[in-house]
Amino acid sequence: MLNFVLAESALELVPREIGSRPAVVSDSKRRGAGATEILLDRSFHHAAMSKLKDSEKRGRPDLVHVALLSVTGTPLYLDGKMRAFVQTYPGLVLELAEKTRIPKNYLRFRGLMEKALVERPGEGLVTVYPGTMGELVRKKLAPDLVVGLSVQGRQTTAAEIAPRIASARNPCVIVGGFPHGHFSKDVLPVVDELVRIDPRPLEAHVVASRVVYEVEKSRRSLND
Ligand SMILES: C[S@@+](CC[C@H](N)C(=O)[O-])C[C@H]1O[C@@H](n2cnc3c(N)ncnc32)[C@H](O)[C@@H]1O
Repeated sequence: MLNFVLAESALELVPREIGSRPAVVSDSKRRGAGATEILLDRSFHHAAMSKLKDSEKRGRPDLVHVALLSVTGTPLYLDGKMRAFVQTYPGLVLELAEKTRIPKNYLRFRGLMEKALVERPGEGLVTVYPGTMGELVRKKLAPDLVVGLSVQGRQTTAAEIAPRIASARNPCVIVGGFPHGHFSKDVLPVVDELVRIDPRPLEAHVVASRVVYEVEKSRRSLND
């Protein structure tokens, strides 16, 4: 089983500290929802986000949506051979039940994520619980190989790293779920190998789908 983790993802409810800022108040009124019950989204809350810590890494739920669509649409996931986790910047884990598909429509995805983050269900298609990357990866998943994808890693290719992942018993692949910046010191200690698959910074969904595709090919050749 491949464990796919989108780490430090830019998916969170509007933090209380900016809940009364004008950009947030007008958006929450427009949506008819409480200010701290809507997703932080730079498209709407840019002016309110400037004072937030690590602002450049936050408020991009659309990136998380696209990355999740990329991995949950793959044959590996559809066959139940991959689990998907979203670990968020503020330290929550959203765990998708095996083979769960997420809405392709962004507005429906947003509604699902807001409900999950407000209610934090302990069972169902999406469960939510507190968790740092250390707690998620080392304590819960306990993988025998953790590959972190980062433009700061050792240069390789998806095709080169995939056989190692495919032949591990319980591997974990970590991709950053944020728009800018790099993995924090909470992520790096859980990573066994930090690799880059291209000298250029790529979008998370491109990296994720390329790595998963190469893992699928490697698994097939191991089984032949
Ligand atoms: C949009 S990037 C984050 C920005 C970051 N400055 C960067 O260049 O990687 C989102 C994630 O995609 C992955 N990623 C982006 N470019 C990559 C590359 N060339 N090789 C491996 N992973 C990459 C990393 O996991 C990264 O955290």
